[in-house]
Amino acid sequence: MNYRHAFHAGNFADLVKHAGLLTLLELMMARPGPLSIIDTHAGAGGYDLEGELSRRTGEAAQGIFRLMADEGAPGVFDGLKEAVRQGNPDGEVRFYPGSPSLIGGRLRAGDRYTACELRDDDKALLEQTLQPFAGARALQADGYSTAADGVAASGAALVLVDPPFERADDYQRIVDTLAAVRRRNARAVLAAWLPLKDLETFDSFLRQVEPLAPDALIGECRLRPLDNPLKMNGCALVIAGAPDGMDQPLGEICAWVAGLGEGQGRGEAWRLNG
Ligand SMILES: C[S@@+](CC[C@H](N)C(=O)[O-])C[C@H]1O[C@@H](n2cnc3c(N)ncnc32)[C@H](O)[C@@H]1O
Repeated sequence: MNYRHAFHAGNFADLVKHAGLLTLLELMMARPGPLSIIDTHAGAGGYDLEGELSRRTGEAAQGIFRLMADEGAPGVFDGLKEAVRQGNPDGEVRFYPGSPSLIGGRLRAGDRYTACELRDDDKALLEQTLQPFAGARALQADGYSTAADGVAASGAALVLVDPPFERADDYQRIVDTLAAVRRRNARAVLAAWLPLKDLETFDSFLRQVEPLAPDALIGECRLRPLDNPLKMNGCALVIAGAPDGMDQPLGEICAWVAGLGEGQGRGEAWRLNG
């Protein structure tokens, strides 16, 4: 496992994932009752954009730095901007929140959050990130099987799946996890982040999701045409069980982020069955 999210923190793909995640949490938390959350691939929890790994790629320059500088960005990004401001009280953008920090900061009394991370170094950082949040715990465990076996069997549940896609079987494991999670709790919502490289890989993944979640919501953000499978040409957030009210904001998120490309971008949200 070579992947470190610090290389990519705050890039365009994080904006789609994290603004989408915050919107999803807001909608799910508007309903009464506790929410149980599993983050299958949690990473370190938060990132120093001036750290060596982030500076080596500079990816945040075309992501969070553009967003924070755009006062006209759609309101759907307000939650993410506010979280970044809170993490940088002196005004400079230096620290960027990962999914654990964003989720932890929104937990209500009674909510439960399990964050899985396999690497020793990132697991140690994850524990520090989650320390202030009651109801949150870090597990050094495989996130797919933790979700498949441990998703709350009843009540409101959210599973966030955000693998590094270093392994060829990540697509298949997401589909298997979706099937297992839905078998345990038919109301569970599963949101999976995917890189968009070529169309065939994306289409074949969606063909496998369709029988399990025919009304899955797809947030698709293309920075450029999907014609080079060696390049990350965009990203997608695929949400099975997406609540009403998610479609429009997810479309706005994808459209704005697609505009960060070089003029060939396209972003939208659509339902598999619709
Ligand atoms: C894309 S990063 C996660 C970023 C995080 N979700 C965020 O938004 O801030 C993926 C992480 O998953 C970890 N990982 C890889 N395979 C895993 C597995 N099977 N179970 C749990 N964690 C895993 C990697 O070490 C890496 O830190």
